[in-house]
Amino acid sequence: MKIAIIGSGYVGLTTGACFADVGHEVICVDNDAKKIKMLREGQIPIYEPGLEEIVKKNLARGFLHFTESIAEGVEKSLVIFIAVPTPPLEDGSVDMTYIERVARQIAAVLKEYRVIVDKSTVPVKTGEKVYQTIKRYNSHNIDFDVVSNPEFLREGVAVHDLLHPDRVVIGATSDRAINIMKELYSPFKAPILITDLNSAELIKHASNSFLALKISYINALSRICEAAGANVQMVAEGMGLDHRIGKHFLRAGIGWGGSCFPKDVAAFIKISQELGYDFKLLKEVSQINVDQKEHFLRKIKNVLWVLKEKRIGLLGLAFKNNTDDIRSSVAMDLATAFLKEGAIVQAFDPRAMEKAKEKLPSIHYCSSAQEVARDSDCIVIATEWEEFINLDWKSMKSAMISPIIFDGRNLLDKKKMINMGFHYIGIGN
Ligand code: UDX
Repeated sequence: MKIAIIGSGYVGLTTGACFADVGHEVICVDNDAKKIKMLREGQIPIYEPGLEEIVKKNLARGFLHFTESIAEGVEKSLVIFIAVPTPPLEDGSVDMTYIERVARQIAAVLKEYRVIVDKSTVPVKTGEKVYQTIKRYNSHNIDFDVVSNPEFLREGVAVHDLLHPDRVVIGATSDRAINIMKELYSPFKAPILITDLNSAELIKHASNSFLALKISYINALSRICEAAGANVQMVAEGMGLDHRIGKHFLRAGIGWGGSCFPKDVAAFIKISQELGYDFKLLKEVSQINVDQKEHFLRKIKNVLWVLKEKRIGLLGLAFKNNTDDIRSSVAMDLATAFLKEGAIVQAFDPRAMEKAKEKLPSIHYCSSAQEVARDSDCIVIATEWEEFINLDWKSMKSAMISPIIFDGRNLLDKKKMINMGFHYIGIGN
Protein backbone atom coordinates (compact mmCIF):
# COMPACT_ATOMS: atom_id res chain seq x y z
CA MET A 1 0.00 0.00 0.00
CA LYS A 2 1.20 3.55 -0.68
CA ILE A 3 1.40 5.76 2.37
CA ALA A 4 2.73 9.21 3.26
CA ILE A 5 3.93 10.31 6.67
CA ILE A 6 3.89 14.04 7.26
CA GLY A 7 6.51 14.94 9.86
CA SER A 8 9.77 12.97 9.97
CA GLY A 9 10.53 13.37 13.66
CA TYR A 10 10.83 10.55 16.16
CA VAL A 11 7.42 9.02 15.58
CA GLY A 12 7.09 9.83 11.87
CA LEU A 13 10.49 8.54 10.86
CA THR A 14 10.40 5.30 12.86
CA THR A 15 6.80 4.62 11.78
CA GLY A 16 7.63 5.27 8.13
CA ALA A 17 10.72 3.08 8.22
CA CYS A 18 8.83 0.21 9.86
CA PHE A 19 5.89 0.40 7.42
CA ALA A 20 8.44 0.26 4.58
CA ASP A 21 10.12 -2.68 6.24
CA VAL A 22 6.92 -4.75 6.16
CA GLY A 23 6.47 -4.03 2.45
CA HIS A 24 4.49 -0.79 2.10
CA GLU A 25 5.70 2.01 -0.15
CA VAL A 26 6.33 4.98 2.11
CA ILE A 27 6.99 8.66 1.44
CA CYS A 28 8.21 10.57 4.52
CA VAL A 29 7.59 14.30 4.30
CA ASP A 30 9.26 17.06 6.31
CA ASN A 31 9.56 20.81 5.79
CA ASP A 32 13.18 20.78 7.07
CA ALA A 33 15.18 20.62 3.82
CA LYS A 34 18.43 19.83 5.65
CA LYS A 35 16.84 16.88 7.43
CA ILE A 36 15.35 15.49 4.20
CA LYS A 37 18.74 15.72 2.48
CA MET A 38 20.37 13.84 5.37
CA LEU A 39 17.67 11.17 5.43
CA ARG A 40 17.95 10.59 1.67
CA GLU A 41 21.59 9.75 2.31
CA GLY A 42 20.62 7.36 5.10
CA GLN A 43 21.83 9.65 7.90
CA ILE A 44 19.62 9.54 10.98
CA PRO A 45 19.28 12.66 13.17
CA ILE A 46 18.43 10.64 16.32
CA TYR A 47 19.95 7.64 18.06
CA GLU A 48 17.49 4.77 18.02
CA PRO A 49 18.79 1.18 17.99
CA GLY A 50 18.06 -0.59 14.68
CA LEU A 51 16.60 2.46 12.92
CA GLU A 52 19.57 3.29 10.72
CA GLU A 53 19.70 -0.26 9.38
CA ILE A 54 16.04 -0.37 8.32
CA VAL A 55 16.15 3.15 6.84
CA LYS A 56 19.20 2.24 4.73
CA LYS A 57 17.75 -1.14 3.71
CA ASN A 58 14.43 0.31 2.59
CA LEU A 59 16.01 3.30 0.85
CA ALA A 60 18.12 0.85 -1.13
CA ARG A 61 15.19 -1.36 -2.12
CA GLY A 62 13.06 1.68 -3.04
CA PHE A 63 10.36 1.22 -0.38
CA LEU A 64 11.23 4.42 1.48
CA HIS A 65 11.35 7.93 0.01
CA PHE A 66 11.87 11.38 1.48
CA THR A 67 10.44 14.65 0.23
CA GLU A 68 9.76 18.22 1.33
CA SER A 69 6.51 18.31 -0.63
CA ILE A 70 3.22 17.55 1.09
CA ALA A 71 1.57 17.70 -2.36
CA GLU A 72 3.79 14.85 -3.59
CA GLY A 73 3.00 12.74 -0.52
CA VAL A 74 -0.75 13.32 -0.80
CA GLU A 75 -0.83 12.73 -4.55
CA LYS A 76 1.06 9.45 -4.46
CA SER A 77 -0.46 7.85 -1.33
CA LEU A 78 -3.81 6.45 -0.28
CA VAL A 79 -3.15 6.86 3.45
CA ILE A 80 -1.69 10.09 4.85
CA PHE A 81 -0.36 10.03 8.41
CA ILE A 82 -0.01 13.26 10.34
CA ALA A 83 2.99 12.89 12.68
CA VAL A 84 3.96 16.50 13.33
CA PRO A 85 4.87 17.78 16.82
CA THR A 86 2.25 18.68 19.41
CA PRO A 87 4.49 20.58 21.86
CA PRO A 88 3.27 21.68 25.29
CA LEU A 89 2.27 25.28 25.93
CA GLU A 90 3.10 26.97 29.22
CA ASP A 91 -0.29 26.21 30.79
CA GLY A 92 0.08 22.47 30.06
CA SER A 93 -2.25 22.52 27.05
CA VAL A 94 -1.12 21.31 23.64
CA ASP A 95 0.03 23.53 20.76
CA MET A 96 -2.14 22.41 17.84
CA THR A 97 -0.84 24.88 15.26
CA TYR A 98 1.28 22.30 13.37
CA ILE A 99 -1.59 19.81 13.06
CA GLU A 100 -4.03 22.53 11.95
CA ARG A 101 -1.62 23.84 9.33
CA VAL A 102 -0.97 20.36 7.92
CA ALA A 103 -4.74 19.71 7.76
CA ARG A 104 -5.15 22.86 5.63
CA GLN A 105 -2.16 21.93 3.46
CA ILE A 106 -3.59 18.45 2.82
CA ALA A 107 -7.00 19.92 1.99
CA ALA A 108 -5.47 22.27 -0.55
CA VAL A 109 -3.93 19.43 -2.60
CA LEU A 110 -6.63 16.78 -2.22
CA LYS A 111 -7.66 15.42 -5.62
CA GLU A 112 -8.92 11.90 -4.84
CA TYR A 113 -10.25 9.95 -1.84
CA ARG A 114 -7.67 9.70 0.95
CA VAL A 115 -7.55 8.38 4.51
CA ILE A 116 -6.01 11.00 6.78
CA VAL A 117 -4.65 9.52 10.00
CA ASP A 118 -3.73 11.35 13.21
CA LYS A 119 -0.60 9.62 14.54
CA SER A 120 0.60 12.45 16.81
CA THR A 121 -0.59 12.43 20.42
CA VAL A 122 -3.53 14.81 20.39
CA PRO A 123 -6.28 15.94 22.75
CA VAL A 124 -9.59 14.13 22.43
CA LYS A 125 -11.81 15.69 19.73
CA THR A 126 -8.84 16.66 17.54
CA GLY A 127 -9.94 14.22 14.81
CA GLU A 128 -13.28 15.98 14.61
CA LYS A 129 -11.52 19.31 14.19
CA VAL A 130 -9.12 17.93 11.57
CA TYR A 131 -12.17 16.62 9.68
CA GLN A 132 -13.93 19.99 9.80
CA THR A 133 -10.75 21.83 8.75
CA ILE A 134 -10.10 19.60 5.75
CA LYS A 135 -13.77 19.84 4.74
CA ARG A 136 -13.63 23.63 4.94
CA TYR A 137 -10.41 24.07 2.91
CA ASN A 138 -11.03 21.26 0.42
CA SER A 139 -12.48 23.38 -2.37
CA HIS A 140 -13.16 20.50 -4.79
CA ASN A 141 -15.26 18.72 -2.17
CA ILE A 142 -13.27 15.49 -2.49
CA ASP A 143 -14.33 12.55 -0.31
CA PHE A 144 -11.96 11.68 2.57
CA ASP A 145 -11.96 10.04 6.01
CA VAL A 146 -10.16 11.01 9.20
CA VAL A 147 -8.84 8.23 11.44
CA SER A 148 -7.08 8.25 14.81
CA ASN A 149 -4.28 5.72 15.12
CA PRO A 150 -2.19 6.57 18.19
CA GLU A 151 1.40 5.42 18.54
CA PHE A 152 2.61 3.62 21.65
CA LEU A 153 6.32 3.20 20.87
CA ARG A 154 8.96 3.64 23.56
CA GLU A 155 12.20 5.40 22.71
CA GLY A 156 15.15 3.04 22.77
CA VAL A 157 13.01 0.08 21.64
CA ALA A 158 10.92 1.92 19.05
CA VAL A 159 11.68 -0.39 16.12
CA HIS A 160 10.71 -3.44 18.16
CA ASP A 161 7.55 -1.75 19.47
CA LEU A 162 6.48 -0.75 15.97
CA LEU A 163 7.10 -4.14 14.39
CA HIS A 164 5.59 -6.06 17.34
CA PRO A 165 2.91 -3.83 18.85
CA ASP A 166 0.78 -5.05 21.80
CA ARG A 167 -2.24 -3.61 20.02
CA VAL A 168 -3.23 -1.42 17.11
CA VAL A 169 -5.93 1.13 17.92
CA ILE A 170 -7.96 2.46 15.01
CA GLY A 171 -10.51 5.17 15.71
CA ALA A 172 -12.76 5.39 12.66
CA THR A 173 -16.40 5.17 11.71
CA SER A 174 -16.35 4.69 7.92
CA ASP A 175 -16.12 1.07 6.76
CA ARG A 176 -14.03 2.15 3.78
CA ALA A 177 -11.38 3.70 6.05
CA ILE A 178 -11.52 0.81 8.55
CA ASN A 179 -10.88 -1.75 5.80
CA ILE A 180 -7.96 0.24 4.41
CA MET A 181 -6.42 0.57 7.88
CA LYS A 182 -6.91 -3.17 8.56
CA GLU A 183 -5.14 -4.01 5.31
CA LEU A 184 -2.32 -1.61 6.17
CA TYR A 185 -1.77 -3.38 9.49
CA SER A 186 -2.26 -6.92 8.14
CA PRO A 187 1.52 -7.65 8.08
CA PHE A 188 1.67 -7.01 11.85
CA LYS A 189 0.60 -9.84 14.10
CA ALA A 190 -1.22 -7.68 16.62
CA PRO A 191 -4.79 -7.39 17.87
CA ILE A 192 -6.63 -4.54 16.17
CA LEU A 193 -9.13 -2.57 18.21
CA ILE A 194 -11.65 -0.51 16.27
CA THR A 195 -13.19 2.38 18.19
CA ASP A 196 -14.76 5.74 17.50
CA LEU A 197 -12.40 8.68 16.93
CA ASN A 198 -12.71 10.22 20.40
CA SER A 199 -12.12 6.94 22.23
CA ALA A 200 -8.96 6.21 20.22
CA GLU A 201 -7.57 9.62 21.08
CA LEU A 202 -8.39 9.11 24.75
CA ILE A 203 -6.70 5.69 24.82
CA LYS A 204 -3.34 7.34 24.18
CA HIS A 205 -3.52 9.92 26.96
CA ALA A 206 -5.17 7.43 29.29
CA SER A 207 -2.43 4.81 28.71
CA ASN A 208 0.51 7.15 29.17
CA SER A 209 -1.04 8.70 32.27
CA PHE A 210 -1.70 5.26 33.72
CA LEU A 211 1.91 4.20 33.18
CA ALA A 212 3.13 7.42 34.82
CA LEU A 213 0.69 6.71 37.67
CA LYS A 214 2.17 3.23 38.13
CA ILE A 215 5.68 4.68 38.41
CA SER A 216 4.56 7.44 40.78
CA TYR A 217 2.80 4.82 42.89
CA ILE A 218 5.96 2.75 43.31
CA ASN A 219 7.97 5.93 43.90
CA ALA A 220 5.57 6.94 46.68
CA LEU A 221 5.94 3.41 48.09
CA SER A 222 9.73 3.84 48.00
CA ARG A 223 9.33 6.67 50.52
CA ILE A 224 7.30 4.43 52.80
CA CYS A 225 9.88 1.65 52.39
CA GLU A 226 12.66 4.04 53.39
CA ALA A 227 10.75 5.12 56.48
CA ALA A 228 9.83 1.55 57.41
CA GLY A 229 13.15 -0.11 56.63
CA ALA A 230 11.64 -2.23 53.84
CA ASN A 231 12.87 -2.84 50.30
CA VAL A 232 10.84 -1.37 47.42
CA GLN A 233 12.33 -3.76 44.86
CA MET A 234 11.02 -6.72 46.84
CA VAL A 235 7.67 -5.01 47.34
CA ALA A 236 7.45 -4.36 43.56
CA GLU A 237 8.35 -7.96 42.80
CA GLY A 238 5.71 -9.24 45.19
CA MET A 239 3.10 -6.92 43.72
CA GLY A 240 4.06 -7.57 40.11
CA LEU A 241 3.60 -11.32 40.36
CA ASP A 242 -0.12 -10.64 40.58
CA HIS A 243 -1.16 -10.67 36.91
CA ARG A 244 -3.78 -8.03 37.58
CA ILE A 245 -1.00 -5.64 38.59
CA GLY A 246 1.83 -6.81 36.32
CA LYS A 247 5.55 -6.40 36.90
CA HIS A 248 6.22 -3.62 34.37
CA PHE A 249 6.65 0.05 35.25
CA LEU A 250 7.20 -0.69 38.91
CA ARG A 251 10.86 0.32 38.97
CA ALA A 252 11.27 2.96 41.64
CA GLY A 253 13.70 5.73 40.73
CA ILE A 254 14.15 9.48 40.54
CA GLY A 255 10.91 10.01 38.62
CA TRP A 256 9.69 9.75 35.06
CA GLY A 257 10.89 12.08 32.31
CA GLY A 258 11.09 12.14 28.53
CA SER A 259 9.19 13.72 25.71
CA CYS A 260 5.90 11.95 26.49
CA PHE A 261 4.96 11.36 30.13
CA PRO A 262 5.48 14.89 31.51
CA LYS A 263 3.79 16.45 28.48
CA ASP A 264 0.96 13.94 28.25
CA VAL A 265 0.09 13.92 31.95
CA ALA A 266 -0.01 17.74 31.98
CA ALA A 267 -2.10 17.77 28.82
CA PHE A 268 -4.52 15.16 30.16
CA ILE A 269 -5.07 17.18 33.34
CA LYS A 270 -5.80 20.23 31.17
CA ILE A 271 -8.04 18.33 28.74
CA SER A 272 -10.03 16.86 31.64
CA GLN A 273 -10.40 20.31 33.18
CA GLU A 274 -11.72 21.68 29.89
CA LEU A 275 -14.21 18.81 29.79
CA GLY A 276 -15.37 19.78 33.28
CA TYR A 277 -13.53 17.14 35.34
CA ASP A 278 -10.89 17.99 37.92
CA PHE A 279 -8.46 15.05 37.56
CA LYS A 280 -7.01 15.36 41.07
CA LEU A 281 -5.51 11.87 40.94
CA LEU A 282 -3.28 12.86 38.01
CA LYS A 283 -2.30 16.11 39.70
CA GLU A 284 -1.01 14.03 42.59
CA VAL A 285 0.80 11.68 40.18
CA SER A 286 2.64 14.73 38.85
CA GLN A 287 3.36 16.10 42.31
CA ILE A 288 4.83 12.77 43.47
CA ASN A 289 7.16 12.96 40.47
CA VAL A 290 8.41 16.41 41.50
CA ASP A 291 8.75 15.31 45.15
CA GLN A 292 10.72 12.20 44.18
CA LYS A 293 13.45 14.26 42.52
CA GLU A 294 13.59 16.74 45.38
CA HIS A 295 13.75 13.95 47.95
CA PHE A 296 16.70 12.43 46.10
CA LEU A 297 18.48 15.80 46.09
CA ARG A 298 17.84 16.14 49.83
CA LYS A 299 19.37 12.70 50.44
CA ILE A 300 22.51 13.76 48.58
CA LYS A 301 22.73 16.99 50.57
CA ASN A 302 22.17 15.16 53.85
CA VAL A 303 25.29 13.09 53.23
CA LEU A 304 27.54 15.62 51.49
CA TRP A 305 26.28 18.48 53.69
CA VAL A 306 27.44 21.29 51.37
CA LEU A 307 27.52 20.82 47.59
CA LYS A 308 29.56 23.93 46.82
CA GLU A 309 33.02 22.94 45.52
CA LYS A 310 32.15 19.23 45.71
CA ARG A 311 33.04 17.16 42.66
CA ILE A 312 29.98 15.15 41.67
CA GLY A 313 30.43 12.28 39.24
CA LEU A 314 27.20 11.95 37.26
CA LEU A 315 26.51 8.73 35.38
CA GLY A 316 23.76 9.28 32.81
CA LEU A 317 22.19 12.33 31.19
CA ALA A 318 19.51 10.83 28.92
CA PHE A 319 15.97 10.57 30.31
CA LYS A 320 16.28 6.78 30.11
CA ASN A 321 18.65 4.18 28.69
CA ASN A 322 19.21 3.37 25.00
CA THR A 323 18.44 6.86 23.80
CA ASP A 324 20.27 10.15 23.28
CA ASP A 325 17.13 12.08 24.21
CA ILE A 326 17.52 14.60 27.04
CA ARG A 327 14.05 16.16 26.82
CA SER A 328 12.58 16.49 30.35
CA SER A 329 15.41 14.33 31.62
CA VAL A 330 15.54 14.07 35.42
CA ALA A 331 19.30 13.47 35.07
CA MET A 332 19.66 16.89 33.42
CA ASP A 333 17.52 18.47 36.15
CA LEU A 334 19.82 16.99 38.78
CA ALA A 335 22.91 18.29 36.97
CA THR A 336 21.31 21.75 36.82
CA ALA A 337 20.57 21.63 40.56
CA PHE A 338 24.16 20.56 41.40
CA LEU A 339 25.62 23.35 39.26
CA LYS A 340 23.29 25.89 40.87
CA GLU A 341 24.64 24.91 44.29
CA GLY A 342 28.19 25.52 43.08
CA ALA A 343 29.25 21.88 42.68
CA ILE A 344 31.61 20.70 39.94
CA VAL A 345 29.74 18.20 37.79
CA GLN A 346 31.72 15.67 35.78
CA ALA A 347 29.40 13.53 33.69
CA PHE A 348 29.32 10.65 31.26
CA ASP A 349 26.51 9.24 29.14
CA PRO A 350 27.05 6.63 26.42
CA ARG A 351 24.87 8.51 23.90
CA ALA A 352 23.46 11.79 25.16
CA MET A 353 26.56 13.94 25.68
CA GLU A 354 26.36 15.86 22.38
CA LYS A 355 22.81 16.99 23.11
CA ALA A 356 23.59 17.66 26.78
CA LYS A 357 26.59 19.86 25.87
CA GLU A 358 24.31 22.24 23.97
CA LYS A 359 22.01 22.63 26.97
CA LEU A 360 24.48 22.54 29.87
CA PRO A 361 27.92 23.61 28.60
CA SER A 362 29.27 24.11 32.14
CA ILE A 363 29.33 20.39 32.92
CA HIS A 364 32.74 18.76 32.56
CA TYR A 365 32.04 16.01 30.00
CA CYS A 366 34.11 12.86 30.47
CA SER A 367 35.04 10.30 27.85
CA SER A 368 34.32 7.33 30.14
CA ALA A 369 32.63 6.34 33.38
CA GLN A 370 36.05 5.75 34.87
CA GLU A 371 36.93 9.40 34.25
CA VAL A 372 33.74 10.42 36.07
CA ALA A 373 35.02 8.67 39.19
CA ARG A 374 38.34 10.51 39.23
CA ASP A 375 38.72 12.69 42.37
CA SER A 376 34.96 12.71 42.87
CA ASP A 377 33.27 13.18 46.24
CA CYS A 378 30.42 10.89 45.16
CA ILE A 379 28.87 9.21 42.15
CA VAL A 380 25.23 9.76 41.21
CA ILE A 381 23.56 7.26 38.89
CA ALA A 382 20.80 9.08 37.05
CA THR A 383 20.07 6.97 33.96
CA GLU A 384 19.47 3.21 33.86
CA TRP A 385 22.17 2.33 31.28
CA GLU A 386 22.92 -1.38 31.72
CA GLU A 387 26.60 -0.87 31.02
CA PHE A 388 26.92 1.01 34.33
CA ILE A 389 26.21 -2.27 36.17
CA ASN A 390 29.31 -3.95 34.83
CA LEU A 391 31.81 -1.14 35.35
CA ASP A 392 35.01 -1.99 37.16
CA TRP A 393 33.65 -0.63 40.44
CA LYS A 394 36.82 -1.58 42.37
CA SER A 395 38.89 0.68 40.19
CA MET A 396 36.12 3.33 40.24
CA LYS A 397 36.34 3.28 44.03
CA SER A 398 40.07 3.77 44.13
CA ALA A 399 39.74 6.78 41.79
CA MET A 400 37.21 8.52 44.07
CA ILE A 401 38.02 10.80 46.99
CA SER A 402 35.16 9.35 49.04
CA PRO A 403 33.39 6.21 47.84
CA ILE A 404 29.75 7.27 48.06
CA ILE A 405 27.16 6.14 45.51
CA PHE A 406 23.69 7.64 45.14
CA ASP A 407 21.96 5.12 42.91
CA GLY A 408 18.90 6.93 41.59
CA ARG A 409 17.83 3.92 39.52
CA ASN A 410 18.57 1.03 41.91
CA LEU A 411 20.82 -0.24 39.16
CA LEU A 412 23.54 -1.77 41.33
CA ASP A 413 23.45 -4.61 43.85
CA LYS A 414 23.39 -2.86 47.22
CA LYS A 415 24.98 -5.73 49.16
CA LYS A 416 27.78 -6.12 46.63
CA MET A 417 28.57 -2.42 46.70
CA ILE A 418 28.60 -2.30 50.50
CA ASN A 419 30.89 -5.35 50.61
CA MET A 420 33.22 -3.53 48.24
CA GLY A 421 33.40 -0.70 50.77
CA PHE A 422 31.05 1.80 49.21
CA HIS A 423 28.64 3.95 51.16
CA TYR A 424 25.58 3.07 49.04
CA ILE A 425 22.32 5.02 48.99
CA GLY A 426 19.61 3.72 46.69
CA ILE A 427 15.89 4.35 46.34
CA GLY A 428 13.49 2.80 48.83
CA ASN A 429 15.93 0.21 50.06
C1 UDX B 1 6.46 6.31 26.85
C2 UDX B 1 5.47 5.14 26.73
O1 UDX B 1 6.02 3.98 27.37
C3 UDX B 1 5.13 4.87 25.28
O2 UDX B 1 4.16 3.84 25.17
C4 UDX B 1 4.62 6.16 24.63
O3 UDX B 1 4.35 5.96 23.26
C5 UDX B 1 5.62 7.28 24.81
O4 UDX B 1 5.92 7.45 26.21
P1 UDX B 1 9.10 6.64 26.53
O5 UDX B 1 8.88 8.05 26.98
O6 UDX B 1 9.92 6.40 25.31
O7 UDX B 1 7.69 5.91 26.25
O8 UDX B 1 9.82 5.84 27.74
P2 UDX B 1 9.39 4.82 28.89
O9 UDX B 1 10.18 3.59 28.72
O10 UDX B 1 7.94 4.69 29.00
O11 UDX B 1 9.97 5.59 30.18
C6 UDX B 1 9.47 6.88 30.58
C7 UDX B 1 10.14 7.35 31.84
O12 UDX B 1 9.76 6.57 32.97
C8 UDX B 1 11.66 7.30 31.80
O13 UDX B 1 12.17 8.46 32.43
C9 UDX B 1 12.01 6.05 32.60
O14 UDX B 1 13.28 6.10 33.14
C10 UDX B 1 10.91 6.08 33.65
N1 UDX B 1 10.56 4.76 34.22
C11 UDX B 1 10.03 3.79 33.43
C12 UDX B 1 10.72 4.54 35.58
O15 UDX B 1 11.19 5.42 36.33
N2 UDX B 1 10.34 3.33 36.12
C13 UDX B 1 9.80 2.35 35.35
O16 UDX B 1 9.47 1.29 35.92
C14 UDX B 1 9.66 2.58 33.97
